[in-house]
Amino acid sequence: MDLASQIYVRKSCRNYLDDEIDMGIIKEFLSDINPLNEEINYYYEILTKEEVNVRTGWSAPYYLALYSEKKDNYMENIGFVFQQLSLFLQSQGIGSCWAGMASPKKKNPDSVIVIAFGRSDKMTRDVSDFKRKGLSQISDFEDERLIPAQLAPSAMNTQPWFFKHTDDGFDVYQVKQNILKRQVLKRWNPIDMGIALAHLYVENEDSFEFEIKNDADELKGYTYTGSIKI
Ligand SMILES: Cc1cc2nc3c(=O)[nH]c(=O)nc-3n(C[C@H](O)[C@H](O)[C@H](O)COP(=O)(O)O)c2cc1C
Repeated sequence: MDLASQIYVRKSCRNYLDDEIDMGIIKEFLSDINPLNEEINYYYEILTKEEVNVRTGWSAPYYLALYSEKKDNYMENIGFVFQQLSLFLQSQGIGSCWAGMASPKKKNPDSVIVIAFGRSDKMTRDVSDFKRKGLSQISDFEDERLIPAQLAPSAMNTQPWFFKHTDDGFDVYQVKQNILKRQVLKRWNPIDMGIALAHLYVENEDSFEFEIKNDADELKGYTYTGSIKI
């Protein structure tokens, strides 16, 4: 299955058709997925728009409500797992959009975020239409191997990732937002980090490795997320 090609054509879908979807493909895809951290339990529910508080100004026929055990890195893990699903759905003609501004009506302490999804004919674009930071802004020096991460979606398009070259890969950092932005983004930027790592993983499926080092360099203005080989 070529998920990587979806990275260069995908966009957050905010325009849906009401067509029914075979939900079995979601369960099947997830049954075989690689998480970032195998020790974190997570689960999901498929909800209809009536079961969700939607504050996005647009809506979708279906929502995936994502839940996780709250262990270290659970938000990165959710981003990592479900961005792979999002790329898969896109390959099946199903558009999706992470939706921080929507939440399940039924309260659950494990709730992390929802993803809107549905069939669509408006969910692709040309790679030149991505609005993204330059490669030199997201790394200590330009490296085309980071293009999949550069193109990743993020909350309010904040693109909070920074990649510092190491001998055999990258140390990965998350931008520290100013105090005003932090209130909103602290719930989402760690998910964005997992999403960017998912793009690097699907593009480098055989070689990708993730670990959290105890002795990673501190970088002013950033917090350390982990280290990767790609
Ligand atoms: C964690 C997260 C939360 C998001 N929340 C919303 C949202 O509430 N409403 C919305 O319209 N888009 C939301 N988005 C989509 C982003 O705005 C979008 O990814 C970004 O602007 C880049 O555009 P693209 O995904 O089309 O490349 C969210 C994305 C992420 C990753």
